[in-house]
Amino acid sequence: MYNDTFSDSLFHFSYGNLSACKPYRYGKVFKTNIIGTPIIISTDAEVNKVVLQNHGNTFVPAYPKSITELLGENSILSINGPHQKRLHTLVSAFLRSPHLKERITRDIEASVGLTLTSWSQLPLVHVQDEIKKMTFEILVKLLMSISPGEDLDILKLEFEEFIKGLICIPIRFPGTRLYKSLKAKESLIKIVKKVVEERQEATIERTNSPANDAVDVLLRDVNDGGGSDKQSQPLDFVSGKIVEMMIPGEETMPTAMTLAVKFLSDNPVALAKLVEENMEMKMRKSESGKEYNWSDYMSLSFTQNVINETLRMANIINGVWRKALKDVEIKGYLIPKGWCVLASFISVHMDEDIYENPYQFDPWRWDRINGMSNSNICFTPFGGGQRLCPGLELSKLEISIFLHQLVTRYSWTAEKDEIVSFPTVKMKRRLPIRVTPVERTSPISVEDH
Ligand code: HEM
Ligand SMILES: *[C@@H]1O[C@H](CO)[C@@H](O)[C@H](O)[C@H]1NC(C)=O
Ligand SMILES: *[C@@H]1O[C@H](CO)[C@@H](O)[C@H](O)[C@H]1NC(C)=O
Repeated sequence: MYNDTFSDSLFHFSYGNLSACKPYRYGKVFKTNIIGTPIIISTDAEVNKVVLQNHGNTFVPAYPKSITELLGENSILSINGPHQKRLHTLVSAFLRSPHLKERITRDIEASVGLTLTSWSQLPLVHVQDEIKKMTFEILVKLLMSISPGEDLDILKLEFEEFIKGLICIPIRFPGTRLYKSLKAKESLIKIVKKVVEERQEATIERTNSPANDAVDVLLRDVNDGGGSDKQSQPLDFVSGKIVEMMIPGEETMPTAMTLAVKFLSDNPVALAKLVEENMEMKMRKSESGKEYNWSDYMSLSFTQNVINETLRMANIINGVWRKALKDVEIKGYLIPKGWCVLASFISVHMDEDIYENPYQFDPWRWDRINGMSNSNICFTPFGGGQRLCPGLELSKLEISIFLHQLVTRYSWTAEKDEIVSFPTVKMKRRLPIRVTPVERTSPISVEDH
């Protein structure tokens, strides 16, 4: 395992404001120390691309020991090689399947609808907290078809306990915290395993229907003899994978939505354009009487611009950590064997040579960027290459549905708040807003509340 200790890292966690390192004084790829650990930082889009693509499996994920302990040795997030590839393919295929998209669109619409209705009845909503309940509900539905209720509540409590250990800065990781988190993980797996066992009995009869959730997908794979060396405890294996899959979506989704609300609150012109586009669609839909589908939401081009611009500026995952298994030369830079590399996304997303006025929230810039030759490699909120986030399309759908309902049914005023980016991206005051239902004036009267 390549889990040498090093400091505040990785994956879904920030390491502070990179601009403080003044990267360009040293060139786009440079060596530095982060809390005593030597590391190579790449702020170059092309170098990042090579690291992400990882041809020949030169780079492996590099996580601190405490994180690896929590995740387990076979976690999708830390494994490398054929098992990672197989799992990645399986999970991506499921998350992008038309069957799931159709089903999950209805589920997301329902959750968002109920959530927003409850917001409009509260005097003050702390978006960052409230939105988490909703995204967790959707995630659990997606993974194992559990609906709101007692099981979901217990699951949420245990998961929160578990995740606390992952968010801690490992260098100051107290033993009791790790212990509590490991305990919580055990209970989580127990709850999940109950679901998996029940399903295992039920699936024997109906294997021809498309998979409804991630439990179905993984169960079928182990039943088909996939991942052969995990066969000894297939149900433990599946339960563990489900718990792991709760990790990457849990923090990122709510943060993306919260920051979208923040950026829109601060940019009334962009908000007005968003309302216009979404109202237009809503009227068209209510005329035709048809339900929304995946492609309807994706066809809202300004909404997609807003999502891209939010992800660019939010840098929820501001880079990924890897360790080189052999000497690698990229664009003339040598990365020696055994060194850790941080492929920094935030440096590219905030590079003024790539994004003019990078600190300005400007959704329209995506109309100009579209079609530029290197635009893909300069925009990597979901990573890329071998480990490209399998939740990419789903995340965009979820944010689109949330924004659509929010701006077509409500208006809001936000209290003053600011974004903090260390150790994770958050709102200092959890983004307090007041939500009011509105009947938007339009040629056709549309109102549904
Ligand atoms: C806005 C929301 C999200 C962002 C910004 C995001 C970002 C990322 C990034 C950057 C990676 C690559 C990490 C690396 O290369 O080491 C990743 C991996 C992953 N993400 Fe997401 N993610 C989001 C939502 C989700 C959701 C909703 C799910 C699940 C339903 C998910 C599941 C995963 C999984 C399973 C991996 C690991 C893939 C692998 O290593 O093969 N993500 N995500
Ligand atoms: C979604 O709905 C639109 C309009 O109702 C239709 O043209 C399109 O084919 C549908 N797409 C899918 C993937 O079902
Ligand atoms: C958003 O970014 C993605 C990834 O680079 C790109 O494919 C897409 O075209 C962008 N969307 C818009 C509306 O510009």
